[in-house]
Amino acid sequence: MKLFDVYPINDITIVRAKDCYVWDENGIQYLDMYGGHAVISIGHTHSHWVKRIEEQLNQIAFYSNSIKIPLQQELADKLGKISGKNNFQLFLCNSGAEANENALKLASFHTGRKKIIAFSKSFHGRTSLAVAATDNPAIIAPVNGTDNVAFLPYNDEEALKEYFQKYGRDIAAVIVEAIQGVGGIAIANESFLQIIRQLCNENGALFIADEVQCGYGRTGKFFCLDHANVDADIYTMAKGMGNGFPVGGILIAPHIQPKHGMLGTTFGGNHLACAAALAVLEIIEQDSLLEKAKGHGQYLMNELKNFDGLKNIRGKGLMIGFDVSGELKELRKYLLQTHHVFTGEAKPNVMRLLPSLSINRKQLDEFLDIMKKAIEELNPHPLKGRFETVL
Ligand SMILES: Cc1ncc(COP(=O)(O)O)c(C=O)c1O
Repeated sequence: MKLFDVYPINDITIVRAKDCYVWDENGIQYLDMYGGHAVISIGHTHSHWVKRIEEQLNQIAFYSNSIKIPLQQELADKLGKISGKNNFQLFLCNSGAEANENALKLASFHTGRKKIIAFSKSFHGRTSLAVAATDNPAIIAPVNGTDNVAFLPYNDEEALKEYFQKYGRDIAAVIVEAIQGVGGIAIANESFLQIIRQLCNENGALFIADEVQCGYGRTGKFFCLDHANVDADIYTMAKGMGNGFPVGGILIAPHIQPKHGMLGTTFGGNHLACAAALAVLEIIEQDSLLEKAKGHGQYLMNELKNFDGLKNIRGKGLMIGFDVSGELKELRKYLLQTHHVFTGEAKPNVMRLLPSLSINRKQLDEFLDIMKKAIEELNPHPLKGRFETVL
């Protein structure tokens, strides 16, 4: 049987991983500055994470949500403490799309309304409502198209105010990434996020923060929205939550009431997923990974600003992006194939760095040295100040 060919893949087979490195079948070591798409939060195969999962596997891996699973409460308590959202409620699921799907559905249940506001260049996943709120027509199947989602320009406060003025009483939720990942590391202005909060309050709509990529400590605060000093009504989480074990969830504000049967999933919150997620939070806390993400991210951005051919270095913590000039359009591929470094991209000319929050200074310097070399090799005679995008 053939695999359904939906992923453009690199001709590399990774067989082993530790911390910020992975190795292919020929023993070649790669520096992982991408964390498998922002998933690796505490480092590949972290010993505490492996031990926790192993021990749980030997006790019980799964039973359905029809019985008590104390690990879920343990996870909720720890999450409440580390995120500072102790009074919120936790619903567990399995992926980022599922988290957003549940958040949007919950907002509609709660408000009794249908309209969703999403933003230009947003990415919220590939399930029906999540993809309908994603600004990429190429991945929206005809059956997923709906008039219930309105796309407004990201960071445009006036457009948002105008839309609320017209349709405020129909709006169930605003869904926003405080830093857009797939959209190219675009950062929401704090005032924009604050206005979303204010307009949602005034109109009885819910504020959904999609923290699937920018959350879970990646930007130096537990949620990226925390930088703007406002609370969402629902936070969605996945990627870094399990360090590679598939687990997602939503944090739900105390004013939103649950009802039996309102949301549900077979696998969500299973014993093994909770053990993996607890291990992640224990290491985030024990190793102060939020502070490290902040400091290391700042260091990396400052250093990258000195490089020829890179422009608009931006980000927070260890969620970093920059535009590459036309001469360096092969940089990402070159880094991987010649210097064995994984990085990410966003079309058309953005490189994304999303390494494990556990990355250390030595590994950052290793990356910077390689970058310097790769840029010189690709573009040995840079013209000072020249910059052409590959648009
Ligand atoms: C911001 C954001 N939301 C949702 C998703 C979807 O997550 P998943 O692929 O786990 O369904 C992603 C994945 O890249 C994402 O970046």
